[in-house]
Amino acid sequence: MYPVHVTGSTVVLREFSMQDVDDVLAIIGDDKVTTWLSFDSRNLDQAVAMIEGTLERAQQNPRTEYYLAVTKHDDSRVIGFARIGFAGVKAGKLGYAIAAEQWGHGYATDAARTLTTFAFTQLGLHRVSAAIGPENAASIAMVENLGFTREGVLRDHVYTNGAWRDSVLYSVLEHEWRS
Ligand SMILES: CC(C)(COP(=O)(O)OP(=O)(O)OC[C@H]1O[C@@H](n2cnc3c(N)ncnc32)[C@H](O)[C@@H]1OP(=O)(O)O)[C@@H](O)C(=O)NCCC(=O)NCCS
Repeated sequence: MYPVHVTGSTVVLREFSMQDVDDVLAIIGDDKVTTWLSFDSRNLDQAVAMIEGTLERAQQNPRTEYYLAVTKHDDSRVIGFARIGFAGVKAGKLGYAIAAEQWGHGYATDAARTLTTFAFTQLGLHRVSAAIGPENAASIAMVENLGFTREGVLRDHVYTNGAWRDSVLYSVLEHEWRS
């Protein structure tokens, strides 16, 4: 399915374009954000490569990744991203980030809710999971608010910022999804 444009209650999820590179760099080049992600902060060339890769994968058929820009309703600037990558049988891994100056307004909750609903209703997935750093209180609060279930700990799941880090695995199944 390409292009995707989904409207949530406060955000829009849309495909990236090369014009988004400065906004993207402000997110993935910011240590405050990437300290919680599975990769270190990136520079301009890496931000360009990230968007190029995203656009290339978005147009593959069948499409197995929905890596979408998050914007507000009335402003096309990118304030974050939300991603579902297919993994396993009718299963997807959820990821998200919001620019640090936009934290605390419910944008991540709305983006994750909108993308998970899209995954169950439009993509036919059965299971959506999120792997979260054990100290990432905001992300854990968010998935728990959305009704995800804690499954356990993935030991040394990612190598980031020079060290191995566990993840706490959360998931929600299609028939459990109420949001
Ligand atoms: C996690 C993140 C996406 C949340 O974005 P956000 O738009 O600020 O999230 P929301 O405003 O929707 O808030 C989500 C919940 O986290 C809570 N929260 C926010 N900061 C918190 C903190 N420091 N400690 C505990 N809870 C916190 C909010 O109160 C909210 O819960 P509530 O609805 O019960 O009040 C954002 O902090 C971020 O981009 N972090 C860096 C990248 C990242 O961690 N991505 C996820 C990787 S698994």
